Amino acid sequence: MIRDAAGVPLAGPLGQALREALERRRRLTFAAFMELVLHGPGGYYATHPVVTGPEGDFITSPELHPAFGVCVGLQALAVWQALGEPERFDLVEYGGGSGALARDLLVWAREAEPRFFAALRYRIVERSPALVQQQRAVLASAGLEATVGWAEASALDAALPLFDGLAIAHELLDALPFHLVTPGPEGLRELYVVEREGRLALEPGPPSTPALEAYFARLGLAPGEGTRAEVCLLVERWLAQVSSALRRGAALVIDYGAEAERLLAPGRPRGTLRCYYRHTVNDEPLTRVGQQDITADVDFTTLRLLAARLGLDAWGPLAQSEVLARLGLAQAASAVGRAAIPWAEREANLRALQALVDPDGLGRIGWLLLTRGLASFTPFQPAGAPRWERVPLLWPGQARLPGPEALEGLPDFAEQWRELWGGEPDETEAGSSRADSPE
Ligand SMILES: C[S@@+](CC[C@H](N)C(=O)[O-])C[C@H]1O[C@@H](n2cnc3c(N)ncnc32)[C@H](O)[C@@H]1O
Repeated sequence: MIRDAAGVPLAGPLGQALREALERRRRLTFAAFMELVLHGPGGYYATHPVVTGPEGDFITSPELHPAFGVCVGLQALAVWQALGEPERFDLVEYGGGSGALARDLLVWAREAEPRFFAALRYRIVERSPALVQQQRAVLASAGLEATVGWAEASALDAALPLFDGLAIAHELLDALPFHLVTPGPEGLRELYVVEREGRLALEPGPPSTPALEAYFARLGLAPGEGTRAEVCLLVERWLAQVSSALRRGAALVIDYGAEAERLLAPGRPRGTLRCYYRHTVNDEPLTRVGQQDITADVDFTTLRLLAARLGLDAWGPLAQSEVLARLGLAQAASAVGRAAIPWAEREANLRALQALVDPDGLGRIGWLLLTRGLASFTPFQPAGAPRWERVPLLWPGQARLPGPEALEGLPDFAEQWRELWGGEPDETEAGSSRADSPE
């Protein structure tokens, strides 16, 4: 029986699928390994219908507080207005998770912006059938099932009809399978997953595809000495698919990421690959196989280069802490502070709002907006003063972040990060002037 890198036997359908794949091909690219252990039989997404939130392995912004959905809604509203408020405006969300983002954006639009809401057609492109079920239930509980449609398909080849509107990819691109590469004495080397002495291991070899060399040629950069870099070739496929469907409007990418120069800088032997398991972070993808999520930073430089080739204007990335400030999150916090709700409820809401902009956590996520056909448009700004009349509050039953007293003695997430990768979590090159002018 095949064993993971720590010697744990891999049983069940995933163990069998891995063994068969390794017997057939001898070695797997890391991207093929990721595809199998995340989405294959017995894989992480196939067996863990709840991946986000307190019972899952990681928490995302939409899970944390409904004000996040309002912020994305304010950005969508600004795009709709820049298009001249057309009668129909499509929102296409790629990788909908629990459905929280769709629910919170639509609940806000229904109450605060009824004309905008009337124009909206919301579609979720989701490949996990279990998550589609969860999304349906979450939207039905808010009376929104009729407003939303689903494409149960991969975001990479959903083949949507032409639309005017906004495509949203929130923590999708960092979840797409990627290759691992390092510089070698005679050029680029790729790292493959192999079975060595009965255990999974990484082994260098020649690149599996010329697309890897082409990736670095387009950047005019190569991984520095002592660096292991992640290369996601699927981002190009996703963007081409979005671009071919988007007539006018924008694509909003919200993700952990950085500029290529930073990602490829010398002396980064672990790159940015990280695994999430029950709210802890580690850099051992060949352990807890099928039990943990695997991600890496998005290369924002490549995204902008690809966007330019497709005739899209790029704005950003700008750090989430800054974007949410511009979209008026502070007003939401003061409205929560004034709301006639019990003290504990107010504290829970304020803690969640604070976490959305935490510079050591979700606040460093980058927002990148790729636009087409918008005549006069200012990104990351609400059109007019943001209106937060109805204070979005945590839903009954929604996770509450524990108070500081409950966290005492528990491992600190940022501390784990520092131990693994040194220094602070990577920041996006956010806050720079790039956010204010398209490239
Ligand atoms: C990290 S989760 C993020 C979920 C949600 N956007 C959030 O932030 O809470 C990634 C999501 O993308 C979906 N996903 C992953 N690969 C996909 C693909 N190729 N096509 C469509 N959905 C995909 C997963 O099933 C999941 O819903």
